[in-house]
Amino acid sequence: MPGSVESSVSEPWWKTAVFYQIYPRSFADGNGDGIGDLAGIADRLDHLVDLGIDAVWLSPFYESPMRDFGYDISDHCAVDPIFGSMEDFDRVLAGLHERGIKLIVDFVPNHVSSDHAWFVEAQSDPSSDKRNWFVWADPEFDDEGVRRPPTNWTASFTEESAWEWDPSPEDPSSGQYYLHLFLPSQPDVNWQDPDLEAAQHDVLRFWLDRGVDGFRMDVLNAIGKDPEPRDVPESIVGIPQVVLVHHDTAMPLIRRIRDTVDAAGDTFIIGEIVTGDIEVQASYQGAGDGVHASVNFASVWTPWERDAWADLLANTEAGYPFGGPTWPSYVLSNHDNPRHRTRYGGHESRARAAAILLLSVRGIPFLYAGEELGLEDATIPPDRVVDPGGRDGCRAPIPWTGDGDHGWGPGAWLPFPPDATIRNVDAQKTGDVTMYDLYRSVLAARRASPALQVGSLDLVDLHPEVLSFRRRHGEDERTVHVNFGDEVVELDTPSATLVVSSSGATEGTFDGHLPGGAAVVVRP
Ligand code: GLC
Ligand code: CA
Repeated sequence: MPGSVESSVSEPWWKTAVFYQIYPRSFADGNGDGIGDLAGIADRLDHLVDLGIDAVWLSPFYESPMRDFGYDISDHCAVDPIFGSMEDFDRVLAGLHERGIKLIVDFVPNHVSSDHAWFVEAQSDPSSDKRNWFVWADPEFDDEGVRRPPTNWTASFTEESAWEWDPSPEDPSSGQYYLHLFLPSQPDVNWQDPDLEAAQHDVLRFWLDRGVDGFRMDVLNAIGKDPEPRDVPESIVGIPQVVLVHHDTAMPLIRRIRDTVDAAGDTFIIGEIVTGDIEVQASYQGAGDGVHASVNFASVWTPWERDAWADLLANTEAGYPFGGPTWPSYVLSNHDNPRHRTRYGGHESRARAAAILLLSVRGIPFLYAGEELGLEDATIPPDRVVDPGGRDGCRAPIPWTGDGDHGWGPGAWLPFPPDATIRNVDAQKTGDVTMYDLYRSVLAARRASPALQVGSLDLVDLHPEVLSFRRRHGEDERTVHVNFGDEVVELDTPSATLVVSSSGATEGTFDGHLPGGAAVVVRP
């Protein structure tokens, strides 16, 4: 296996790391109630070692009424009983660290649950000093005297106004609106209030003191609000405001967040910056003093087409110039979007080629638990829909075994993905040349090659159906070819040594013969 040789690159750990996202409800069930939990994760850590990832991003496990499945936090520093206890969290963290794996946790800075003590106080007592921890606005009135919100902003999920009318506790005939870019039960907080900012830094320090290695910061762009809320043009009313809010009030806040996180040592922040615009994403890294990385939504939204991917790579290289202070990331699937295998039409060959592509571009790859099993989205019958954002399909439980319960208690919280009798951890580990074997081989190939981890990337134009690019670091060189077409092609390229192919092969000679849908990594 190429992976038996570890590369020795002197770069920060996060630059060479491959991250693996765990959505705790969906990963593994430790107590048999059908909902994934921290004990389930703690019991399955050897799976991550066997796969060969370097770091875990754990989605929220904090106390929450679960109207947005944990992204609506009612206590930032407590574990929700559904997920277990703080001891269970410590067991996950210690277990990962013992295995040489880093852990970043979710930080949700833009909003809290309306059940959070901060909001309960702000709402019930308008004279409280917590009132200004949220974003309130007086009503406007139209010509007929009908009350309307201060701006025409649209919330995510509901497609309705991002402002919720809140009658005054003293006099219900008056009141104010509060802002919520997501559900009305997720009020936005006001980062312009110094006490709110200080309280958020306390949350960061709480988790840093427990030993986490950093954070994935939820909708981070949204903390930088326009101090004077103003309407968006009529033509874009309906686009969720979280996509549109990119204001220069964000970076000073982010720099101070970075200082707090840096003070804990060798840490890492990836910001969820909601935009498909690569320059905008990159701008949140500042001159290396903002976030270390931004979530690359462009890679989630790019279709499986050769030219679209060539443009994505070219634009990413231009937006994050090699040798500069910024560094890209790539991701195909997460808990908010249909899995890429589903988006790409379900084909096994595409999912295999995508594994090679994601793990060989220049940038930090983020895997979503289950993609190493080749999972597609589950089909959710109408009576099993639970998410207000319609994202249940990609959150289906991970099948660990081939039997009826797939390693879960009876009655898992969502249906399993298709073909779970074959696409489960047990079967994938014991079968021949499985998707899982391919992920292991590609991860090992990446780990063994400084060029793949941190080298430059140059596109090579060889064939209209084939995406080709070269990665270089010093003497180390790898070339990647991905055939997006269905036909076999003969590339006009010097004979090379095969490192790994999407068929699962890890040795041989590559003479330019590339079957339809196939991908290879080769070296001179
Ligand atoms: C982010 C999360 C998503 C959540 C939303 C509101 O986009 O990834 O799951 O619903 O923020 O917190
Ligand atoms: Ca459970």
